[in-house]
Amino acid sequence: MSSVPEIDLTSADVLGDPFAAYGRARERGPVARLLAPGLGPMWAVTRYEDARALLSDPAFELNSGSFLRPPGIPEHCLAYLRTMSEMDGPEHTRQRRLVSPAFTARRAKDFHARIAQIVNRLLDGLQDEADLLRDFARPLPMEVICELVGIAEADRPAWREHGAAVAMGDREGFVRAVPAIVAGAEAAVARSRAEPGDDLLADVVGVRDSDGDRLSETELVTLVWHLVLAGQTPANLIANAVEALLAHPDQLAALRADPGLMPRAVEELMRWCGPTLLVAPRYAQEDIELHDVLVHKGEPVTVAVAAANRDPRVFADPDRLDLHRAQGTAGNLGFGHGPHFCLGAALARVQTEVAISALLSRFPALAAVGEPRRAPDPGTWRLGALPVTL
Ligand code: HEM
Repeated sequence: MSSVPEIDLTSADVLGDPFAAYGRARERGPVARLLAPGLGPMWAVTRYEDARALLSDPAFELNSGSFLRPPGIPEHCLAYLRTMSEMDGPEHTRQRRLVSPAFTARRAKDFHARIAQIVNRLLDGLQDEADLLRDFARPLPMEVICELVGIAEADRPAWREHGAAVAMGDREGFVRAVPAIVAGAEAAVARSRAEPGDDLLADVVGVRDSDGDRLSETELVTLVWHLVLAGQTPANLIANAVEALLAHPDQLAALRADPGLMPRAVEELMRWCGPTLLVAPRYAQEDIELHDVLVHKGEPVTVAVAAANRDPRVFADPDRLDLHRAQGTAGNLGFGHGPHFCLGAALARVQTEVAISALLSRFPALAAVGEPRRAPDPGTWRLGALPVTL
């Protein structure tokens, strides 16, 4: 047991450069123990093959029944917070089957023009000196979510505000935002039933599978809540990607010279500086041996995506950002893997590609101002601010 590498989630080392810290643990052994005040036994697999195996192993379940809900959320909202990210087995499979058709790559491409419009409107509003996170990367996904849900223009300011409260991860703001979002989601579902728009919500409201099964009212409202919760992550990828490109002028020049490189570049940026450092823990359904570590029934195990995506067993020269890199058939794990693979991956890719393309083509002199500020977060690689000049 003493040979198991330990990772102190609160250390300056991890918070400052999680890729290096998780990577060092990966090279010492395949399973690490995560440490933080008040954290019980918590394991992480750090190597790519183990990560993929764990993420599709039904012996590890998300639904422990103990998922944290901050106190103060009104009783009537709680049913809507149990998203498919907390479900396993047939219950999860059924939800995915019903909602997946609305999230295909083809459907995401249908939104391309609308996303480009939002991107250009946000870029039009930028001052010469801007915080690209606050003024561009963060507002974009929330505008896209409003499009997906068919939120009327007049109601959008409130959605932006509540969306920001959820994304900031501040507990008080979160507790205040939940009832407002639930009420907005109930209204959106009712309106979509009465007058279906050309949006994702209308797709899922109308869905029937071959057995006639459909999503219940509660499931639809929960899905809208889930979009607000999970759908804001492109903000972090876009900001991280812009920071990385500005810090690697040769890569930036290659991308400017060949816009066709963009899809491959986005995959590499996801691998190299994607927001997902750790995924939600899975709970062992029985005593299980992971290499030399005995994980007891009920103990949580996560995946250190930050380590797996730079596993030299899979990615040559893994710490190098190389926009021409082929990710291999299996791809990197930035969007997860297995049954819970990110439902919004196609949409996130379109948003990121359109955002970076427009930014680079409209602002040839784009430059960073000073050091970007990182948010200290061992689970998500994200900035606190990204000051630039245009
Ligand atoms: C799941 C990452 C954007 C909706 C996931 C998972 C990851 C992830 C790693 C799996 C988590 C796990 O297995 O524990 C990301 C990243 C994004 C992004 C890095 C942006 C760059 C989006 C967007 C949406 C979305 C734009 C919706 C519009 C979801 C949903 C799930 C999910 C609904 C749950 C799927 C399930 O449990 O079956 N995402 N995501 N994500 N994501 Fe994303």
